[in-house]
Amino acid sequence: MELLVVEDLRKYFEFKKGLFARKQYVRAVDGVSFSVERGTTLGVVGESGSGKTTLGLTILRLIEPTSGRILFNGSDVTRLSKEELKHFRRSTGIVFQDPYSSLNPRMRVKEILERPLKIHSDEGEESRVERIIKTLEEVGLSAEHLMRYPHELSGGQQQRVAIARAIILKPLLVVLDEPTSSLDVSVQAQILNLLLDLQSRHELTYVFITHDLLTAKHVSDFIMVMYLGKVVEYSTVREVFSNPRHPYTASLLSSIPIPDPKLRGRKRVSVVGEPPSPLNPPKGCRYHPRCPYAIDTCELREPELLEHDKKHFVACHRAGELSFREFLADMDSFLSE
Ligand SMILES: Nc1ncnc2c1ncn2[C@@H]1O[C@H](COP(=O)(O)OP(=O)(O)O)[C@@H](O)[C@H]1O
Ligand SMILES: [Mg+2]
Repeated sequence: MELLVVEDLRKYFEFKKGLFARKQYVRAVDGVSFSVERGTTLGVVGESGSGKTTLGLTILRLIEPTSGRILFNGSDVTRLSKEELKHFRRSTGIVFQDPYSSLNPRMRVKEILERPLKIHSDEGEESRVERIIKTLEEVGLSAEHLMRYPHELSGGQQQRVAIARAIILKPLLVVLDEPTSSLDVSVQAQILNLLLDLQSRHELTYVFITHDLLTAKHVSDFIMVMYLGKVVEYSTVREVFSNPRHPYTASLLSSIPIPDPKLRGRKRVSVVGEPPSPLNPPKGCRYHPRCPYAIDTCELREPELLEHDKKHFVACHRAGELSFREFLADMDSFLSE
């Protein structure tokens, strides 16, 4: 069953440069559609600025969408009454990239975890504390951390507190926005494993945002690749990694750093220059100025996101003819690990 269905979602930020300048819009999320089945993980990948964070905040209604529909458990999140919105808040959680700035430095762990309980339930102090300790234990901490302030914890412990806060009300959906990117490499795997463990224990549904493809591969069932506010490719993790159809996805995959020295000089799918500003996205296909495979059509017409194989959606005029398997062949053993 689909827990989350997103239809043609848009979030435009107004951008005004100078007093008399014409109003312009940053099209951070520009017509995105997808769905996530209960208990599964959708990995959202793409370079910085592609709209991942805006997408995550918008589907939780932490920021208001400009247009589009967000169906959660069948009801439209964009049209909830106050009471329904409160219920929706309770059913969702979010974990941000930087745990320290997401935790109030003046609150002890107990107070941080008590807040959602006070807002959403009327249980007494004793039962609240019991629940807090149980949740701390679930994330690998204990009662001994109750009275600590965030600055008295390591980065990994802080992120565990942020995760505890996100799951303490037993939500159905959790958005994870680069939850391991700011942590030491040695801690990243522990936090990823914790998230996977919590997911299977509580049948959580994740939208997992990351710019790191190997992390996405490790945790996701489906992958959605974003470029300048649009989805360019969407499929199962296996399809995206073994048979990417969009040149942008292929360039991301072929530039994954691989420690094996034999692969250092491997052939790569190139990409030209830096991503342009979403304030003035290129006409036609937004990727065309950077795409080594672009043809005239790409400058003129924007490609639609079409299903090329079963459950494999690609927005590229040349998706039917291009194959990147030869570039990825060398990486096969590495990627299939
Ligand atoms: N509150 C905001 N006001 C104006 N522009 C914003 C705001 N938030 C994000 N943006 C712009 O929207 C685009 C997408 O940003 P973001 O969603 O943070 O991307 P990502 O998470 O993929 O790096 C960027 O160009 C960013 O500058
Ligand atoms: Mg971001």
